Amino acid sequence: MSGIKILGYGLSQGDKIVSNSDLEKIIDTSDSWIREKTGIERRFFSVEKNNLDMAEEAAKRAVENSDVKVCDIDLILVCTFTPDYATPSVACGVAGRLNLGKGVMCMDINAACSGFVYGLNIAKAMLESKASKCVLLIGSEKISPLLNMEDRSSCILFGDGAGALILGADEEGLFESSSGVLYDDEILFCDRSNPKVSMRGQEVYRFAVNKVPEIIREVMAKGGCSAEDVDRFVFHQANLRIIDSAAAKLKIPENKIYKNVQNYGNTSGASIGICMAEMMEKGLLKAGMKVVCCGFGAGLTYGATFFTVGE
Ligand code: COA
Repeated sequence: MSGIKILGYGLSQGDKIVSNSDLEKIIDTSDSWIREKTGIERRFFSVEKNNLDMAEEAAKRAVENSDVKVCDIDLILVCTFTPDYATPSVACGVAGRLNLGKGVMCMDINAACSGFVYGLNIAKAMLESKASKCVLLIGSEKISPLLNMEDRSSCILFGDGAGALILGADEEGLFESSSGVLYDDEILFCDRSNPKVSMRGQEVYRFAVNKVPEIIREVMAKGGCSAEDVDRFVFHQANLRIIDSAAAKLKIPENKIYKNVQNYGNTSGASIGICMAEMMEKGLLKAGMKVVCCGFGAGLTYGATFFTVGE
């Protein structure tokens, strides 16, 4: 049995705050509609910073507040569907900016909004097998240039940002995961020939409210626990209504659920990383706690992890 320790955390946001009222000025929408349908109040768009700039900022903050030396990091994973280049990866860019080279493996993971959960799985597997000793796991997205600002049902949802964790192995810890894919390239996609996010909102909504409780039940069963035993639930921050629906189905008390979609919108592969970095900062993730994370999104991908926070 082996789990993960959180050795450091950091976050970064896009450089421009965009409120719902700002959007009212450019599209036919209203603050009240967006809040009622999604819970979102504002999001960050990145104008000056690219994806790598945000990933770097989050990574450097994570190193700063940890006891880890940069040279201890031997695996960099960046969860993103919005890399600045098709290649090199954002992860290679982070290595460059941290002056890391020999002995470091770098790669991006594209699992859209399930990215950070899949990243946690890969990090844990690499740590458990001892292929890595210290993993820098980052979720970083610059989605704003890929938004169709004439499509009011999708452009109001997304934002830019990055969250990073430095992870080590916890020999005594627990870690379970469940995941899946329902392949579909029409409900939620971003085509390279016309790179704009396109979404059939109601179908995505139905997919999420069905799959999220199912996959969380499955991972809790693997961990031999129920919602009562779990201390913190960290959902992909797509929409408050999706989170609330899953919470009601699973009978999760409000105080166990972390939500920040109000301030960020949907940052896809970064959202759970940003949540976890904020929770660490606020002292909401403590050693010994049992945590469930759940991601879902384009692919259609979905996944959940259950783990204990290592000492
Ligand atoms: N502002 C105001 N009105 C809007 C609007 C906006 N931003 N976007 C859509 N509308 C209108 C529609 O045009 C429609 O008007 P009509 O009734 O006159 O035709 C009405 O609101 C209802 O549209 P509908 O698409 O049925 O709304 P909805 O209740 O499904 O809510 C979403 C739309 C996108 C908020 C909702 O489907 C959703 O949250 N889906 C999940 C999206 C998601 O989380 N994606 C990422 C997953 S990782």
